[in-house]
Amino acid sequence: MFCFGHRGAAGHEPENTLRSIRKALELGAHGIEVDVHFTDGHLVVIHDDTLQRTTNGRGPVAKKTFAELRTLDAGHGERIPTPAEVFDAVARRALINVELKGPRTAAPVVALIDEYVRQRGWHYEDFLLSSFDHEQVCQAKHLRPEIRTAPLINKIPPGLAEFAEQMGAWAVNVSRRCVTQALVDDAHARGLKVFVYTINESRDIAKMKSLGVDGVFSDFPERAII
Ligand code: G3P
Ligand code: CA
Repeated sequence: MFCFGHRGAAGHEPENTLRSIRKALELGAHGIEVDVHFTDGHLVVIHDDTLQRTTNGRGPVAKKTFAELRTLDAGHGERIPTPAEVFDAVARRALINVELKGPRTAAPVVALIDEYVRQRGWHYEDFLLSSFDHEQVCQAKHLRPEIRTAPLINKIPPGLAEFAEQMGAWAVNVSRRCVTQALVDDAHARGLKVFVYTINESRDIAKMKSLGVDGVFSDFPERAII
């Protein structure tokens, strides 16, 4: 089963750090998922919109300058990375799933991906953009139709995967709490892939296999790579 290292390999190393990403690659993850915010004119890789859970800083990410964010310790002395640092660390060895957190992320992320494709020989297929904010997903697709997108969902939409097909998405990224056989079958009938987050336990891995999903996100990628 295809496995995205969730926030790198968050079960082993501080989440969303280069150390975590290197660990996920070492464990054989097929994809790397990271969370991205846009603040002070810069993209930064961090999950929460506040600093205290994952760094030695406090308060909203949006209240700090980029320079201030870069002085913080995101665990084991790692600093908050930029997406470009993540791309360089992955070096096309895995599919990179950038989760767009918060508003105004789609355009700068698309611009960065354009740079890697046009100037460094990467391919749009090296990336997947996802978000709970479906407006950002649509904006990314509108800006660069070649980029694969996936809306994130944590409840089943009334028309199952119809909304994702209408968005021109490549996949639908679904919470393990709401994934059903009907959704998986409907998505597949529409040509969409189904990736489920966050799968760490063996009983959940077995359930995902029985549902026939295309892949999972795991904090422990080695458990789901079968
Ligand atoms: O992209 C899958 C998963 O990461 C979404 O939830 O809260 O872990 O960012 P969250
Ligand atoms: Ca995420």
